[in-house]
Amino acid sequence: MGMRETIDQMRQMMSQELEKVCDKQTLEALRVRVLGKKGELTALLRGMGQLSPEERPAAGQLINDAREKFTAMLEARQDALRAMERATALQRENIDVTEPAPLPPAGSAHPVNIVMREMVDCFTGMGFEVVEGPEIELDHYNFELMNIPKNHPARDAQDTFYIDDNIVLRTHTSPMQARTMLTRKPPIRIICPGRVFRSDEADATHSPVFHQMEGLVVDRDVTMADLRGTLNAFAERVYGKGITTRFRPSFFPFTEPSTEVDLTCSACHGKGCRVCKGTGWIEVLGAGMVNPRVLEMCGIDSTVYSGFAFGIGLDRIAMMRYAVPDLRLMYEGDARFLGQFR
Ligand code: PHE
Repeated sequence: MGMRETIDQMRQMMSQELEKVCDKQTLEALRVRVLGKKGELTALLRGMGQLSPEERPAAGQLINDAREKFTAMLEARQDALRAMERATALQRENIDVTEPAPLPPAGSAHPVNIVMREMVDCFTGMGFEVVEGPEIELDHYNFELMNIPKNHPARDAQDTFYIDDNIVLRTHTSPMQARTMLTRKPPIRIICPGRVFRSDEADATHSPVFHQMEGLVVDRDVTMADLRGTLNAFAERVYGKGITTRFRPSFFPFTEPSTEVDLTCSACHGKGCRVCKGTGWIEVLGAGMVNPRVLEMCGIDSTVYSGFAFGIGLDRIAMMRYAVPDLRLMYEGDARFLGQFR
C-alpha cells in the first residue's frame, strides 16, 4: 500500500473516531495514537529512512500536510467539545428569575365564609355597603337602643355572655343598626356580617359562637314590599331560580311588624325532604320594619323616614347548602372536613 493510501486510511479512521469523541481524555488518546512519539503518523515519518532520496521530499511533504490536517481536525473537535461543555454548564447554572416560585399548598375557604362572600357580593350589587362592628359590645347598643331595656323578658331569650354589667359579647349583629343610624344620615343601606355569641350548649344545631349578617335600609317611603323584594332577589341570586321566601308573623322588640322568613328548601326545591323535615321551607332569617322607637332613639325622625332590617343566620345556610349534618363540624377546624370545600 502506498503512503498516500495509508495516510488516507488514517484520515478516515480519525474522522470516524473524532465523531465519537466526547471528552478530553479520549481526544488526547486519539492524538497520541496518531501524532504521539509512538503514533501512527510518527511511525510513517520514521519509516522515511527506507525511502530513496528522490522519494523523500514528496513523502515528507505528504506527511507534513497530514500532520497539519490532523492537528486541525483534533483542534476543531476540541473547540466543539469546549462549546458543548459551556452550553451544558450554562444550561445547568441557568436561573430563570422570571419563573414563578412554587406555591405553598393552598388552604380552602370555610363554608361559612363561602356563603358570606356570596351574600356580600349579592347585596353590594344591590347598593348595600359592608360595615363591621365590635364583637365585644356595650349593653347600650346590643340591647337598650334595640328597644330591649333592662329586665325586658327578651333578654332571657338571648342567653347573653356578660363581661360586666354594661359590656357583653354581642348576641346579634343588630347593634350595628344603632351604631350606623347614630353616625350616618339616611339614605342608609348597609349589611354587617360577623360573629355573634350566646351561652348555648353546643349540639348538632347550637353553638356558643355563630354567624349572622345584618341588613338595614333607612330612607323615605321604605315599605314591607321593599323588604320582600330585596329578600326575594337575594334568594334567587344566591340559590337560583324558583327559590323564594315565605314570611311568617313574629316578634322582635326592634322591628314592627316583625317576621320570620323561610327560604324554599334548596335541597328538594320545596317538595319536602329530610333537610327541611318535609315542610319544603327552611327558616333562615328574622326581619321586619325598623321600630319607630328605635329610629327615634337613634336620632332619626320616624315621621319622615322608615326602614327595614333583617338578620340572616349564615351557619344554617352553609349547613343546608353543603348538607352538613352537625353544626359542631363548622367549629372544630378538622382539616379533613375543611379540605372538602376547595
Ligand atoms: N337580631 C335578630 C336575631 O338575632 C334577627 C333580626 C335582625 C330580626 C334584624 C329582625 C331584624 O334573632
